[in-house]
Amino acid sequence: MKAAAFPLIALLGLSAGCGKPKGQAERPQAVINFHQLFSENCAACHGTSGKTGAGPKLNDPLYLALASREDMRNVIENGRPGTPMPAFGFARGGTLTEKQIGAIVDGMEKEWAKPVNLQGATLPVYGIAKAPPGNARRGQAQYMRNCMMCHGFGSFKGIAGPITDPNYLALVSNQYLRTTAIVGRIDWGMPDWRHRIPGHVMNDQDISDVVAWLASQRPKGYMMAENQSTDNSFANQSSPDSEREPKR
Ligand code: HEC
Ligand code: HEC
Repeated sequence: MKAAAFPLIALLGLSAGCGKPKGQAERPQAVINFHQLFSENCAACHGTSGKTGAGPKLNDPLYLALASREDMRNVIENGRPGTPMPAFGFARGGTLTEKQIGAIVDGMEKEWAKPVNLQGATLPVYGIAKAPPGNARRGQAQYMRNCMMCHGFGSFKGIAGPITDPNYLALVSNQYLRTTAIVGRIDWGMPDWRHRIPGHVMNDQDISDVVAWLASQRPKGYMMAENQSTDNSFANQSSPDSEREPKR
C-alpha cells in the first residue's frame, strides 16, 4: 500500500540528506521558549506539533506516559547514534544548553501529556536496558502472531511497511522498535500493545522478544543491536555524517 510505505521512505531520505536544523544565528542559547525551541530544532523531523514527520510521534499521551522525563532528556542530550536523531547536548557537540533541553522536556509534558486510561493493563517498561532480555527465537513466533498480518513476512506483503527489511532495520534503534511496539502509531493505523489481537495483550517479555528478533534481522556485522543495549553505551560507535553540522 502506497500510503503505508511513506514513513519508511521518509526516514531513509532523512538519513541520507538532512542534518541538524539550525537555530537562529543570534544568541540562540538565550531562547527558552518551548515552541520556538521545538520548531527550530525538532519540527523538521518530528513535525511542528510533534505529531507528523519521519521521526517518532512525541505529541502522544501514551508515549509521554511511557517515557519518563529522564528518558527523554537523555535521548535529546545524547541523540541516538546510528539513527537520524542528533545529539543536542553541548557535551555531544550539540547546540542546546541543559536549560533549553529542560525547557523542551517541560513543554512536551505540560502541553502534550494527558492522563491515559490503561483499561486495567500494565504499562510495559520503556527502556531496553531495564526490560527483560529478549530471545530472538521466541520473538519470531511473537512477530508471526502480533505483527506479520500487517507488516508481512517473506513473500507475504502486509498493508504496512516491511519492518523486517534489513535496510530499514539498519536505520532504527532497538529502543525505537520497542517504543513503537508498545505505543503503536494509531494515526498511521497501528494499534498499541493492548489492541492488536482481541483479548491478547503483549507483555514485557513478548515485546523484548520481538525486538530481539527484529534486531537479529539487521545486516550481518551491523553493530547497532549491541550498541543500543542502553542509551549510554555507544562509546565505540561513531555518528554518521548526517548528524554533523556542515562546516563553513
Ligand atoms: C493492524 C496492523 C498492524 C499491526 C498488527 C502492527 N503494525 Fe506496526 N505499523 C502499522 C502501520 C500501518 C504502520 C505505519 C507505517 C508503515 O506502514 O510502516 C506501522 C508502523 C510500525 C513501525 C514504524 C515504521 C517506521 O516507519 O519507522 C514499527 C517499528 C512497527 N510498526 C512495529 C510493529 C511491531 C513490532 C508489531 C508487532 C508487535 C507491529 N508493528 C504490529 C500497522 C501494524
Ligand atoms: C534529523 C531528524 C531529527 C531531529 C532534528 C530530531 N529528531 Fe528526535 N528522533 C529522530 C528519529 C529518526 C528518532 C528515532 C531514532 C531511533 O531510535 O531509531 C528520534 C527519536 C527521538 C526521541 C525518542 C523516541 C523514543 O524512542 O522514545 C525523542 C524523545 C526525540 N527524538 C526528541 C527530539 C527533540 C526534542 C528534538 C529537538 C530538540 C529532536 N528529537 C530532533 C529524528 C530527529
